[in-house]
Amino acid sequence: MAVWRWLTLAPLGVFVTYVALRGISESWDNDGFPEALAVKLELLPIIFPVHMVTGGLALLLVPLVLVLRGTRWHRFVGRIAAIDILVAGVTAIPVALNIPVTKISAAGFATQGITWMALLGFGIWHIRNGRVASHRACMLMMASVTSGALFFRLYLGLWKWVGVPKYFYTFYGLDAWLAWGLPLIVMAVWLRATRWKLLQR
Ligand code: HEM
Repeated sequence: MAVWRWLTLAPLGVFVTYVALRGISESWDNDGFPEALAVKLELLPIIFPVHMVTGGLALLLVPLVLVLRGTRWHRFVGRIAAIDILVAGVTAIPVALNIPVTKISAAGFATQGITWMALLGFGIWHIRNGRVASHRACMLMMASVTSGALFFRLYLGLWKWVGVPKYFYTFYGLDAWLAWGLPLIVMAVWLRATRWKLLQR
């Protein structure tokens, strides 16, 4: 692999691992949670921590399954990832809808969770019916929805730096949609642009 590729992938891998482990550890180490999230935790003392652990694991498992394409481990790790995403997605819905920070953000997170699980379901359905190209397309789009968890935190971090406090709720609502919506659109456009290659598979 070319050096420039490592130079891009290594920091990305470190960032993904950091966010994933931080997410998992926040399931028990959450004293620093802002009030809005602490309230959710009090209301959903099992569901929310389960979401944090399975969400964190999804960030590690999804890239791993993609890396394992073409090996006999792809199927095995893929099944574990699918169960994990299902649990993270189902638990995301009550976490999103209970005492939401804003109604727009709640709708964004809930739509993200449903889209995430739907793409996973379609991906599994396609491969069970032998449609490799469609399976690949669904799983790449599912992975781009997963990346929303990274972009969400990235934009939140940037906002803390440069954002105007009185617009926080507007920003938060937008972040809950754009963090996963933009990567999904980019992936869908890229898949469409390269579909002739996929059809040859
Ligand atoms: C992709 C679908 C996902 C959805 C729909 C979703 C939804 C949510 C929602 C609604 C909240 C509460 C925030 C709020 O209501 O304002 C939350 C918090 C959280 N989620 Fe997820 N999540 C997803 C994926 C992930 C992933 C991949 C991780 C891995 C790090 C993760 C880890 C967490 C953690 C640690 C929190 C606690 C607060 C924080 O650190 O921001 N979630 N999630």
